[in-house]
Amino acid sequence: MTIFDKFQPLAEARRELEKSASNFFNVVLEEIVSGTEAVVNGRRMILAGSNNYLGLSFDSDCIEAACRAARREGTGTTGSRMANGTFSGHVALEQELAEYFGRRRAIVFSTGYIANLAILSTVVGPGEIILLDADCHASIYDGCRLGGAEIIRFRHNDVADLEKRLGRLEKRKTNVLVVAEGLYSMLGDRAPLADIVALKQNYGAYLMVDEAHSLGVLGDNGRGLAEEAGVEDGVDFVVGTFSKSLGAIGGFCVSNHPELDLVRYASRPYVFTASSSPSIIASTRQALEILRTRPDLRRQLWQNADLLYQHLQGLGLNVGPEVSPIVAARHENKKDAFALWSGLLERGVYVNLVLPPATPDGQSLLRCSVSAAHTREQMAHICKSFTEARV
Ligand SMILES: Cc1ncc(COP(=O)(O)O)c(C=O)c1O
Repeated sequence: MTIFDKFQPLAEARRELEKSASNFFNVVLEEIVSGTEAVVNGRRMILAGSNNYLGLSFDSDCIEAACRAARREGTGTTGSRMANGTFSGHVALEQELAEYFGRRRAIVFSTGYIANLAILSTVVGPGEIILLDADCHASIYDGCRLGGAEIIRFRHNDVADLEKRLGRLEKRKTNVLVVAEGLYSMLGDRAPLADIVALKQNYGAYLMVDEAHSLGVLGDNGRGLAEEAGVEDGVDFVVGTFSKSLGAIGGFCVSNHPELDLVRYASRPYVFTASSSPSIIASTRQALEILRTRPDLRRQLWQNADLLYQHLQGLGLNVGPEVSPIVAARHENKKDAFALWSGLLERGVYVNLVLPPATPDGQSLLRCSVSAAHTREQMAHICKSFTEARV
């Protein structure tokens, strides 16, 4: 017996997948042409599965800001936020985030994954309870486990199920943190946030919302679902990432609870990892400025979202429940999903193929996402490719 024996089921699953989609495991973006195009396996492809919602990964001002910061401050901080890794840029970005969200406190983390780990493992712990939407992202689950709080799931977007569970927990007389996302990353559906906020207030719980996919996408000012739903005051902690609409990498949490600052001292994922490099912080600050001041990008994003959603729906594909920049085509069986994914690849369109157990309800998903930077011609090509490759 070896330590690798437990990988056998994985190895078998991979062999099986390779039979139907040999190219599944060797997609490498060999050359990045723009925020929406890359050379994959020697072929130029339209990227229709990234999370580059506003197309800012190739914004010239963001790139310039990153280059200037690297020249001025070096390529990395070589230290954690608690040691020598807090540069003036990190502090400035925290202030800008706090201002943008209208919150008293903000913390910047090295990734969105780490932001969830840091907040969830610290603000609730043993003896307390986390009630999370069953479709929450893996980083939320991992953060919950790390802190040792009791974890209870409620059915995805099911307010009645959440209320039933909150009711049962009342007699336990302990702190409860409810966790939901803004836009869910696989199907692009929104949380019923106004109802969730009403419940958390009724039951005296706390609420954390991960706006990873909704920052820059929802709300008149792009602050996410809480802004769109008009319930920002009811959300205790907003978590998000820089790796999607801000086109970089990193994460954050904002809150009106002044105690958020104490997370810095108590949170292992904050203390024991290196802080983001100066170039990342600089491009993110620039991207946040663009996100704030360019609502036209959001409008373009939604035009593209609407176009793709309606097209796939018209083709009879089983898309998610509402129009969103994340457009998922659900398939009961992996083979059909592979066939469509490969057909798109052959036509120069790259989307994400997501397989169970990473998907809701055990379905196989072609997860597409659109960007404000997709041109009219690119959108037309994506739609045409779906029509042709549809099996
Ligand atoms: C809902 C959600 N939260 C957090 C993360 C993690 O963010 P990052 O990849 O920036 O670490 C993701 C990543 O896809 C996500 O979808």
